[in-house]
Amino acid sequence: MDWGSYATLSLEQDGDALIVTVNRPEALNALANQVVDDLLELTGRLEGIGRDADWPVRGIVLTGAGAKAFVAGADIREMDGMDPATAEAYGRRMHQVTLRLEELPVPVIAAVNGFALGGGCELALACDFIYASADASFGQPEVALGLVPGFGGSVRLQQRVGAGQARELIFTGRRIDARHAHGIGLVNRVFDDAAALMDGARATIAELARVSPTAVANAKRTMHRVQGLGVAEGLEVEAESFREAFTTEDSAVGRAAFVAKERAAFPGR
Ligand code: HXC
Repeated sequence: MDWGSYATLSLEQDGDALIVTVNRPEALNALANQVVDDLLELTGRLEGIGRDADWPVRGIVLTGAGAKAFVAGADIREMDGMDPATAEAYGRRMHQVTLRLEELPVPVIAAVNGFALGGGCELALACDFIYASADASFGQPEVALGLVPGFGGSVRLQQRVGAGQARELIFTGRRIDARHAHGIGLVNRVFDDAAALMDGARATIAELARVSPTAVANAKRTMHRVQGLGVAEGLEVEAESFREAFTTEDSAVGRAAFVAKERAAFPGR
């Protein structure tokens, strides 16, 4: 599959993982307009993963270049020249990136090495889950600039950590370290250093490569669809998804392999 080439993103396929690195270390990987354009282009291309039962990768790792930052937020220098309409358009384009990440049929892991602030924290929140190195830090410091979260933080941070924790972080603009972020459920796992972080993310994607990709895609879609629904409505969606799973070859292969006491070789359709 042709992933394209980008001014501000580096791509590397490593086995079943696609590693996407935001590559502007001189500005702590801040989300300049060019980065947003590149992320839009890339997420558009990635939509085709799994089509025609071709699964070129089974998971994506999103990270930042350099030792200091995942992403230090929106590009404050560029925002300095924006009028309200331009700022709204900037936020909406980034919303589209985050929605596309959620719609991808494979899991996306944010591997946070260093600062994940403002739009950087929001980009990580659009990933399925977050792994962090011990020196990572998180925050929504927009209020210190007279701003509010604009890349989805007002919605996704409270979904991830609950309303009380999200309000405290957003209203104070306070920064928290990786262990604190782990304690409130923002981060799934904390690793000693950046190398262990990337190894951990790759190992999880190797695990994903052993299960059914159509089932993982179905589970991801279902979990997004039920978010915000009441229990009864959510269970309706789940019932449809469970039914749909029985239409896949993967489910027939998976069940038959269990009965035969063999390991399933999933065809991915
Ligand atoms: C543009 C940035 C940047 C940013 C860092 N840089 N963050 N440039 N936008 N968000 C640049 C610095 O200007 C500097 O460039 C270089 O990166 C290194 O940063 P330093 O500040 O020298 O590093 P350090 O002293 O270690 O401090 C790191 C830091 C600080 C604590 C992360 O850079 C910082 O506070 N950055 C801003 C974080 C932030 O407020 N993010 C939220 C933005 S609002 P030079 O050229 O001087 O070397 C947001 C809204 C989202 O994200 C919604 C929008 C719709």
